[in-house]
Amino acid sequence: MIIKTILTGHSRGLGDALARDLLGRGHLLLGLGRSGNAALAGDFPERLREQRLDLSDLTALRDWLAGGQLHDFLADADQAVLINNAGLLQPVGPLGTQGGDAIAQALSVNLGAPLILADAFVAATAHCTDRRIVHISSGAARNAYAGWSIYGATKAGLDQHARAAALEHLPGLRIASLAPGVVDTDMQAQVRASDTAHFPQQARFAALKADGQLTAPAAAAGRLADHLLGERFGQCVDGDLRTL
Ligand SMILES: NC(=O)c1ccc[n+]([C@@H]2O[C@H](COP(=O)([O-])OP(=O)(O)OC[C@H]3O[C@@H](n4cnc5c(N)ncnc54)[C@H](OP(=O)(O)O)[C@@H]3O)[C@@H](O)[C@H]2O)c1
Repeated sequence: MIIKTILTGHSRGLGDALARDLLGRGHLLLGLGRSGNAALAGDFPERLREQRLDLSDLTALRDWLAGGQLHDFLADADQAVLINNAGLLQPVGPLGTQGGDAIAQALSVNLGAPLILADAFVAATAHCTDRRIVHISSGAARNAYAGWSIYGATKAGLDQHARAAALEHLPGLRIASLAPGVVDTDMQAQVRASDTAHFPQQARFAALKADGQLTAPAAAAGRLADHLLGERFGQCVDGDLRTL
């Protein structure tokens, strides 16, 4: 059985840990992102393919999809998985300080690219009896945080996309939008580095780190992979990984 996975943002953080976990389980993985992951490529030269793409550039993404590489990669898959993991926290701050360029970049990476990839993935996997999409969401999709209006709005958009797509009951397709918990990555370092005037809850996240409450990327990735590949995946469309 050939299992093929497409993962955005495999260069570091949760994406790096997810890639390592799934490659270790024998998946053939196509990593999409601005940067490659040399360590991963060294460890899994036969199973990892990488495609450099800046997901804030939706025209470049559409051009790449039009070239047929995603379709070709998935053509012989029995089971196919799409993980929309790449994401940006910025812009952090109240309205009036965010700036149009940063807003546009966040909308493209966090929401536009995942939705375009999901559509292309479903179109390219009609032959697969088992196909699964997971959007990496956030608690910020469901609880509002001052300073994170753009981030929260993009993640809430992923949740609603998954809810609507699940109602379509496409053959073999399961979809969910899952929050991974508070994971010890560069993104959390950015959270802790936030100016409290722009992000009033900064101290709470700093305390979580100081108290050793952050989840290691490998642990979050293992839990996500177990759920994603398990029988119950898709039953909860907009859950939190910590409670699934
Ligand atoms: N860490 C947490 O506590 C936490 C909590 C809730 C949700 N999440 C979500 O989990 C996911 C992974 O986050 P993380 O913590 O691992 O963050 P991270 O360490 O900052 O990694 C983000 C990943 O996204 C990629 N990326 C960013 N901009 C991109 C672009 N323009 N084009 C292509 N790829 C891009 C990065 O790759 P390059 O920079 O190499 O291009 C990197 O691989 C995100 O969706 C995030 O919102 C994280």
